[in-house]
Amino acid sequence: MSLLIISTSLNPESKSAILAKEAQGAANAWGLESNFLDLRDYDLPLCDGDSAYSHPDLSKISGILSACSGVLLAFPVYTYGAASATKNLFELAGKSIQGKPIGLLAAAGGKNSYMAPLSLANSLMVDYRCPIVPKYVYADGSVFENGSIVDESIKERIVELVKTLDHWAKVL
Ligand SMILES: Cc1cc2nc3c(=O)[nH]c(=O)nc-3n(C[C@H](O)[C@H](O)[C@H](O)COP(=O)(O)O)c2cc1C
Repeated sequence: MSLLIISTSLNPESKSAILAKEAQGAANAWGLESNFLDLRDYDLPLCDGDSAYSHPDLSKISGILSACSGVLLAFPVYTYGAASATKNLFELAGKSIQGKPIGLLAAAGGKNSYMAPLSLANSLMVDYRCPIVPKYVYADGSVFENGSIVDESIKERIVELVKTLDHWAKVL
């Protein structure tokens, strides 16, 4: 039983990666086994529905996804939705998370895109039959200062998300 924390932003100074690290810390503090996958460490091609499926990095990532019992997915909000790098991951490797529960952690610039995770949630539910923890984490730019989370309520939401996801992973 192991949770997988996935950071999908390609930005070297990613704020959603900070949410992902916080989630990893919460999992550790709760005594949960977890692994961390950062898309910046890979060179995934854009999904073309064809040769991209043969890329060597994809088999590595698919193996990591297949091995976990639940996913904490951190992503950037771009144009009122999940960034294309996030969606690309599931276009390429979605089959490997079939049926696994998922908790979402979104980083956005402003407060108004709080519905942005829903399109991704729908796709993960409908395409890959993943149960999605309804109470996701949404953090706008004011939550971060100098590479850290300065809003205690967001830290609490992350702990709650990790605990809920662990419970769902065990039940399922
Ligand atoms: C192309 C682009 C589109 C964006 N669109 C939105 C948006 O629709 N709503 C929003 O609140 N922030 C938007 N932002 C700001 C990002 O959500 C913000 O920079 C966030 O920190 C990105 O996550 P990351 O730091 O993990 O990459 C956008 C940023 C970029 C580069």
